[in-house]
Amino acid sequence: MSKTIKTDVLIIGGGPAGYPCAIRAGQLGLDVVLVDKSGLGGTCLNRGCIPSKALIHAATRYAELTTHAHDPAMGISCAKPKVDMRALTGWKDDLVDKLTSGVAGLLKAAGVNTLNGWAEFADAKTCTVTLDDGQTVTISAKNVVLATGSVEVELPFLPFDDNRVISSTGALNLTKLPKTLAVIGAGYIGLEMGIAFAKLGVKVSFVEALDRILPLYDKAITRPVSRWLKTHNVDMHLNCKAKGLSKTGLLYEDKDGAEHEVTAEKVLVAVGRKPLTTGWGLETMGIDMDGAFVRVDERCATSMRGVYAIGDLVGEPMLAHKGTKQGEMVAELLAGHRTRFDPIAIPAVCFTEPEIIGVGLSPDEAKAAGQEIITGKFPFAALGKALTMQGGADGGFVRITARKSDHVILGIHAVGAHAAELSGEFSLALEMGARLEDIAGTIHVHPTLGEGFAESALAALGQPLHIAR
Ligand code: NAI
Repeated sequence: MSKTIKTDVLIIGGGPAGYPCAIRAGQLGLDVVLVDKSGLGGTCLNRGCIPSKALIHAATRYAELTTHAHDPAMGISCAKPKVDMRALTGWKDDLVDKLTSGVAGLLKAAGVNTLNGWAEFADAKTCTVTLDDGQTVTISAKNVVLATGSVEVELPFLPFDDNRVISSTGALNLTKLPKTLAVIGAGYIGLEMGIAFAKLGVKVSFVEALDRILPLYDKAITRPVSRWLKTHNVDMHLNCKAKGLSKTGLLYEDKDGAEHEVTAEKVLVAVGRKPLTTGWGLETMGIDMDGAFVRVDERCATSMRGVYAIGDLVGEPMLAHKGTKQGEMVAELLAGHRTRFDPIAIPAVCFTEPEIIGVGLSPDEAKAAGQEIITGKFPFAALGKALTMQGGADGGFVRITARKSDHVILGIHAVGAHAAELSGEFSLALEMGARLEDIAGTIHVHPTLGEGFAESALAALGQPLHIAR
């Protein structure tokens, strides 16, 4: 017979939106049940952010060693390195295991009842969970938080087969490097993974439907990445659509309708992600949708009283850190706090070579929003710390966009080696409503990349120190 549980808060999905919601709700004294089928930490920890960053780190280390084997830069030379993909994947898996068991420990410490299984709703407040051992549990909850995340979009004519046609999940688990890889889609996933494989010595070719890479960023910001791809022998076929497999690779069509082929042992499909809205009874819950996403208000409340939704399920940007903040917020709301999800900006980082950061409005977006602006730009090539880390030569810079009338900062963008770690200071500046003078007047440690941020503010004020006016 099925066991029945009653709870204050039922959270479906233990990814970067659901598990922080559960931890905070537990810490605030609520009675919480968290259900997840495919591993705590969700896509981010198991098949996304963390394993991809591990792969990128290992690939970068390999590429650096390979460089030193050819050229004794900095007086360092070594024999030609080798890569053992099985060992690399094993190292990455150990790291993921460590982090997922850390999440399990945190949930336990917060008093959360975690169930490993698949939930299916019968109505908005009741679901049945089929546990991994086949047993079922019926849960009835006062409040429900939906955090089911998203899944990879599949191309109908190129279904994933875990062999030749792979998703990002498959690409992260390769135990043998292919000689050639075609990547469909030069967005976030395609570029991060494609660049990592190129660093590992794979011949990578991109097929991208649009006329440019990473359309979310302006061309000035993506130019250093395009240059890296060109100088590292990565082929980029823009304005081209994937059509299907050939015997030896991928067929694609250019904008004039002509068909071409690119040789590819493996084809990585990275054409976007979609919210996971099927297979768990959403249709029984009486919830309004917003296109493919669940519709929520600024408190992440759905149209059904007592049902909340967070993370990738509720819309763009589908970024882990957005889901985490929404999860914390909903937990606080359920504990009786007055709160809402109202960030000034949600920062985004693309871990390409070099790395890209965007927080707030670009100059073009600010102008389109009717703002009169001033901008300041500072190149990493003029920054001592960047040069000591062999950065700067990649064309990287920090760019700040501010309102002309009162110098309030509207957006900050950067591209450059190691630049991702600056994103926290950029977000803080926007959230605190900083003006150019606040950033320029803050003492930044010398020598760090952060000096580039202060210098970009000085440049916007017409007073740069380390570049000519
Ligand atoms: P994406 O939306 O960033 O890029 C998909 C690309 O595929 C687009 O440029 C599109 O034009 C192209 N495309 C679509 N159909 C095509 C076709 N038939 N032939 C050729 N090109 C085609 O999606 P992606 O890279 O799959 O990432 C999904 C989401 O995952 C992102 O929106 C992001 O939110 C998240 N993500 C975030 C990361 C980060 O924060 N660093 C890293 C990886 C993913």
